[in-house]
Amino acid sequence: MKYPVWLDCDVGVDDAIAILALHALDEIDLLGISTVCGNAEQEKTFSNAHRMNGLMGTDYPVHRGAETPLYRPLNVSAMFHGENGLGNVELPIPENAVFNRIPAWDAIYEAAKQHPGELRLIAIGPMTNVAIALMKHPELKTLLHSVLIMGGSASVGNVTTAAEFNIYDDPEAAQILFKSGIPIVMCGLDATLKAVLTPEDWNELAETGRCGRFVRDCLSHPWKFLQSIGFAGVPMHDSCPVLYLVHPEYFKAETAGVYVETRGTVSLGRTVTDLYSDKKFDDRHVTVVLDVERDRFIETLKDCIRRV
Ligand code: RIB
Ligand code: CA
Repeated sequence: MKYPVWLDCDVGVDDAIAILALHALDEIDLLGISTVCGNAEQEKTFSNAHRMNGLMGTDYPVHRGAETPLYRPLNVSAMFHGENGLGNVELPIPENAVFNRIPAWDAIYEAAKQHPGELRLIAIGPMTNVAIALMKHPELKTLLHSVLIMGGSASVGNVTTAAEFNIYDDPEAAQILFKSGIPIVMCGLDATLKAVLTPEDWNELAETGRCGRFVRDCLSHPWKFLQSIGFAGVPMHDSCPVLYLVHPEYFKAETAGVYVETRGTVSLGRTVTDLYSDKKFDDRHVTVVLDVERDRFIETLKDCIRRV
């Protein structure tokens, strides 16, 4: 089966690698890409999505989304993703790039109408565009098959002790998604931190072609920091929902209720799950991904990168 997929992303380095995987996987029909502010400002994430079309020689439609979170100032992640969002690797914007005037939230809705009940929305940045789409088009929640996100966690945070970046950057937007009742697959840090690509992996990939060289080059920026704090490689956070769609057998997951802390101070942006409590939420429609078989995951991801 080919899954119709729409990707919403904040093209940073791991988003870029997830786009390579989406293009390479035969089981996925990537209908389009929308960009949100997050790892970098919208101007950069939007142009980076076009730059990925140029790298891959593709012409996936790219639609621009939110310039800021719903209610809060934007926190970018330049330390990790570089000033340009691609680890400071320079990629040209293709000359045939089409700068669509249809905004992300309308493009997502149009794609869902074309594939009623079948469209998988993969969201790997802050959920701002997803929230706006759900608010502007209430019918959308009945049209989407599911939403697969990289975000949150049932345990640790990576921006604060409590919160993961994609949720912390726009907690209100994430809450709108979790309260929508749409089936959600939440690939949080519990699993994604284990899905690390190592220097040995990317040096091997660099021998396979331009996309492999891009992966090595764009990861060298975050690697400097991650190596200094004892990581074995760079987590492929955003490829997790992509590979979960095609290879759920690589992962361990449990059904839970999940909601977002939007008023806290210490806990702002935490994804509160009822996994470990005898007190359960009434609505338990989230598949919380808790673990991944790293070697199987990475071998499939490397195979994707080799084949683009
Ligand atoms: O916490 C990891 C997430 O934040 C990933 O999506 C990464 O691209 C950043 O957006
Ligand atoms: Ca991302």
